[in-house]
Amino acid sequence: MKPFIVASTRPELIKLAPVMREFDRVGIEYKFITTGQHYDSELFGVFLRDLKLREPDYNIEIGSGTQAYQTATAMVSLEKIFEEGMPDVVIVEGDTNSVLSASLAAVKLHIPVAHVEAGLRSNDRRMPEEINRIIADHCSEVLFAPTEVSEKNLLDEGIPHEKIHVVGNTIVDATLENISLANDSILEKFPEDFLLLTLHRAENVDKIEILSGIINAIAGLGRDVIFPVHPRTKKMMEAADFEKHENLLMTEPLGYLDFLALLKNATCVLTDSGGIQEEAIVLNTPCITLRTTTERPETISAGGNILAGVVEGKIKEIAERVLSDKELYDSMKNAKNPLGDGKTAKKIVDILLELHKHGALLIKSPDFEA
Ligand code: UD1
Ligand code: UDP
Repeated sequence: MKPFIVASTRPELIKLAPVMREFDRVGIEYKFITTGQHYDSELFGVFLRDLKLREPDYNIEIGSGTQAYQTATAMVSLEKIFEEGMPDVVIVEGDTNSVLSASLAAVKLHIPVAHVEAGLRSNDRRMPEEINRIIADHCSEVLFAPTEVSEKNLLDEGIPHEKIHVVGNTIVDATLENISLANDSILEKFPEDFLLLTLHRAENVDKIEILSGIINAIAGLGRDVIFPVHPRTKKMMEAADFEKHENLLMTEPLGYLDFLALLKNATCVLTDSGGIQEEAIVLNTPCITLRTTTERPETISAGGNILAGVVEGKIKEIAERVLSDKELYDSMKNAKNPLGDGKTAKKIVDILLELHKHGALLIKSPDFEA
């Protein structure tokens, strides 16, 4: 089997590294492609280093731009790479513009797409990611849903049952594999008792009123807050004249092993990230999600995550409750991870190899008979 793996942003590298490692283990060669959506060392190179990944075989270098620019530019080059290489399967993960480009380019060449982390839905169509994940799912032949909740979302949209495999989420593999390597030395740079904050969602950071409301709420808790700032957020904070808060300890985006150490040791994480909601429950760190919806509702029903919205007063009220109500805090800390057992990458590779072996890794014509 000849797989092509497209991984172009920080979370895609983290979540596809276990799949690449599993292909290495079973001796299957693959091509690794990045569109270049994330290009700065702090969002890409550092993750190759921390996850011990090789340099990509292809880098399209699309860089930053509008939604259409990124999607279209990546598609044109991916089409050429796929046409020349004719992989048996194109593997994508998640919901970025690069995932949309790769899924569309592949399916139109009749190359089967395997979507890792299929079936997540926030039901918020203002999010570019929601559009991307819906289209990627509908372009895919093999859909690796993390849970039964995501499987149901796919079935409700008419995706045939036989295309869907509930396998857990590779974030569990990545977290369990890497937590013992986490750089605990970073903890020496910061106070012992701290909250961890990340923000990068367009809906939150591209609107200054929302961004400042969130930051004021969290700084207003009066605790030390470590805040690794995503470049999208940094650009916004530099453009607007932001109120300074002494207890807000801003840093550059951190490497994966530094970040894992902070996440594991944080009293609580406050975030609008998708992946961090998942990692938090694996590491038993209570999570407060700074959004009005989440495509990870399993983390909420499991009791490890609370949706706090984006309004200053409400965020402050919820965070104060989590931090002062010991029973609630402990129940969040002890919530059970609903995202799998850390063996998801092996399941994914086994399923793909099995389908390939039986000639079933293909886009079937309507009159196909096995
Ligand atoms: C993208 C994904 C988002 C994912 C996130 C992971 C889409 C629509 N969004 O959001 O789903 O959660 O990656 O972090 O695909 N920039 C740099 N250096 C870089 C890359 C970006 O400075 O290496 C800056 C640029 O100013 C750019 C901005 O960050 O305009 C946003 O980057 P982009 O990749 O478009 O979106 P993210 O917000 O990173
Ligand atoms: N992360 C990191 N350093 C940081 C912030 C996040 O290594 O400073 C990692 C984190 O461990 C998680 C991933 O980046 O696995 C999440 O990426 P992001 O929040 O950018 O994207 P999302 O998951 O929302 O798509």
